[in-house]
Amino acid sequence: MASKKRQCLLADLCSRDDHRKPEHSKMNTSIDPQVARIRASLLAWYDAHRRDLPWRAKSGVRADPYAVWLSEIMLQQTTVATVGPYFGNFKAQWPTVGAMAAGSLDEILVAWQGLGYYARARNLYKCAGVVVSEHGGVFPETEDELRKLPGIGSYTAAAIASIAFDQPCVPVDGNIERVTARLYDIDIPLPKGKKDIHAAAQSFISKDRPGDFAQAMMDLGSGVCAPRSPKCDICPLNADCQAYKTGNPARLPVKAPKKIRPERCCVVFWLENADGDVLMQKRPETGLLGGMTGFVSTSWREGAWPEPTEIETASPLSIEWAEIPGEAVHVFTHFRLTMRVLKGKAQKGANVDGFWVAPTVFAEHALPTVMKKVIKLVGENPS
Ligand code: ADE
Ligand code: SF4
Repeated sequence: MASKKRQCLLADLCSRDDHRKPEHSKMNTSIDPQVARIRASLLAWYDAHRRDLPWRAKSGVRADPYAVWLSEIMLQQTTVATVGPYFGNFKAQWPTVGAMAAGSLDEILVAWQGLGYYARARNLYKCAGVVVSEHGGVFPETEDELRKLPGIGSYTAAAIASIAFDQPCVPVDGNIERVTARLYDIDIPLPKGKKDIHAAAQSFISKDRPGDFAQAMMDLGSGVCAPRSPKCDICPLNADCQAYKTGNPARLPVKAPKKIRPERCCVVFWLENADGDVLMQKRPETGLLGGMTGFVSTSWREGAWPEPTEIETASPLSIEWAEIPGEAVHVFTHFRLTMRVLKGKAQKGANVDGFWVAPTVFAEHALPTVMKKVIKLVGENPS
């Protein structure tokens, strides 16, 4: 039922929107009154209720493309609340894209510590370099040009193009996806429903203030059109919202059943020398946590603990190891990693592969969260 109704509505939008096929555009330049109302209500709501975010330009002020880019990369897999202080630090340390390009990858990785998904930090640095070397330090303005830069996918390109350059595109993130699915009562399960949701979002974007429109949708989705309990009574779009009319907007967007996350297991070696320094290694540049510093471990085995022989082979020294009670767990996007930790003492002058780090300076190394969980487990079990 809902799908049929939605098709009519979308067809209606398409046939009346001003950005449609050229052969009809002369005859039909008027905008659907409902679309006009949605745009006006949303922008008026935004002007009154916009969030004050560290990277967001003040009302009527042109956004700084560097700040928009930096924040959008950070926000890709991280919440607004977490990103705040990191954004401030980065802006203070590297105020411009040129300053960032002139910095070093290691400094950036250290400052990125705790944000996760470190490929983003590597691409951030690469992108700064390309913007300086190929674009004279000025970000390109179109979605297509932005997409060619390292670390910028279609969502981020649309976000930067709309927010920084007022290009008429919609960055469809989870918030905008939810608001749009509800507005038009699109109940095709995600990810299959994405195409229709994107088309609908594209069709009602404001052509006058695309950047504000995109940010208004983000703010509405995070504060009003919340996933579980949308506050429809205070929503500026309730008069035009199809899902609100059905009485149960929270059921949208429909999601395909989740795949279960596979389990992986590994044994981590906590090797101390006579000074209490701990052995660490730099992980290979490619792969998960590429180039990050970490403790020595066995491979991350799928579904089973490594065999004793595998543990023996992976251990940095042939010594007596004592298992620390408990386990450390870290959840990655595609699997869950459970770690057991073996603790050992290296004799003076022992020949090991890696470098020694004093626990007091762990913070100076770009340690991924998964390694911090190992440190925490060891800290909870002093010997
Ligand atoms: N999430 C991703 N980008 C955002 C932005 N620019 N403002 C608020 N939330 C966001
Ligand atoms: Fe979301 Fe309710 Fe507003 Fe519809 S009326 S957009 S469901 S908050």
